[in-house]
Amino acid sequence: MNGAAAAAAPGAPGLHPPTLRDVLAAQVRLDGLVVRTPAGRYSELDAAAGTAVVVKHENLQHTGAFEVRGALNLLLGFDAPARARGIVAYSTGNHAQALAYAARHTGTGCTIVMPERPNPVKERAVRALGARVVLHGATFDDARAHAQDLAARSGARLVGAANEPALVAGVATATFELLQQAPDLDVLVVPVGGGSGAAAACLVTRALAPHVQVVGVQSAASPAAHDSWAAGELVTRPNATRAEGLAVGTGFALTQQVMRAALADFLLVSDDAIAAAQRAYLTGARTVAEGAGAAALAAVLTHPDRFAGRTVGVVCSGGNAAEAELVRALRA
Ligand SMILES: Cc1ncc(COP(=O)(O)O)c(C=O)c1O
Repeated sequence: MNGAAAAAAPGAPGLHPPTLRDVLAAQVRLDGLVVRTPAGRYSELDAAAGTAVVVKHENLQHTGAFEVRGALNLLLGFDAPARARGIVAYSTGNHAQALAYAARHTGTGCTIVMPERPNPVKERAVRALGARVVLHGATFDDARAHAQDLAARSGARLVGAANEPALVAGVATATFELLQQAPDLDVLVVPVGGGSGAAAACLVTRALAPHVQVVGVQSAASPAAHDSWAAGELVTRPNATRAEGLAVGTGFALTQQVMRAALADFLLVSDDAIAAAQRAYLTGARTVAEGAGAAALAAVLTHPDRFAGRTVGVVCSGGNAAEAELVRALRA
């Protein structure tokens, strides 16, 4: 890893981004426990984008999203007392499912705080995995405050969505796989909420394929990560996107530090463009993407000139779309 990425994250004292060694250790730890997801090519997506598009199908990962890589990597590293104390997390859904899945696998107690009126697909899945679900507050940030409180009172480990080096190292195994599946990539487009997926992509490409440009994407309706990256400091912004995986209202120190050092560009897309990309996935690739999962493709379809003539990887990060979301996408 380069020097900039190895320094402690400002605003997150003691937190260091993972190194390539951490990613390789995660790769070994996760071997056989996560899906080596396919990297797909689709002529209809190439035609719509006007360039070569390689889809990294994390929507086909266990729990239907990429986060399980990080969750398993974190919890497999816990000792017996830490497993007995358990974890508390806050999430709009996929982080929760991933932690519940990893908690069940490792015998760790798990409480998840979700904002009221969560995506019913994700809430059902978390409960089915055996986690205790607490519904609290209108937004992700309300749920976060309540989870912090519960963890402080119970002694359980609070697992954040972004300032977690072990999560980033586990998630980075997806980029490690993709570079082997598509060594000709020029650009890798990654959706950003808290920024773990994009930070992970930056760390791996910098170490192994520095010619690959990593481009982040967020919804213009929830631009906190984008604006933090552009401003060079952590900022708070309105948080109104329909794509719940991208719905955060603040930047996070650890991931912003890595993205600041290594992200080539950061694009904003509209929620309608995300819905159109979901439709393109359904009709052109016969694949189900939730809003956050379609954001990277939305950026490529929205900015064709930015990507023309390049081989572009897009991370289809999750497929846990609610039924109403799919109906809306098909009408887009
Ligand atoms: C499907 C999906 N894509 C993208 C993201 C954003 O990931 P990150 O928070 O690592 O930036 C999330 C986060 O919840 C997600 O669930």
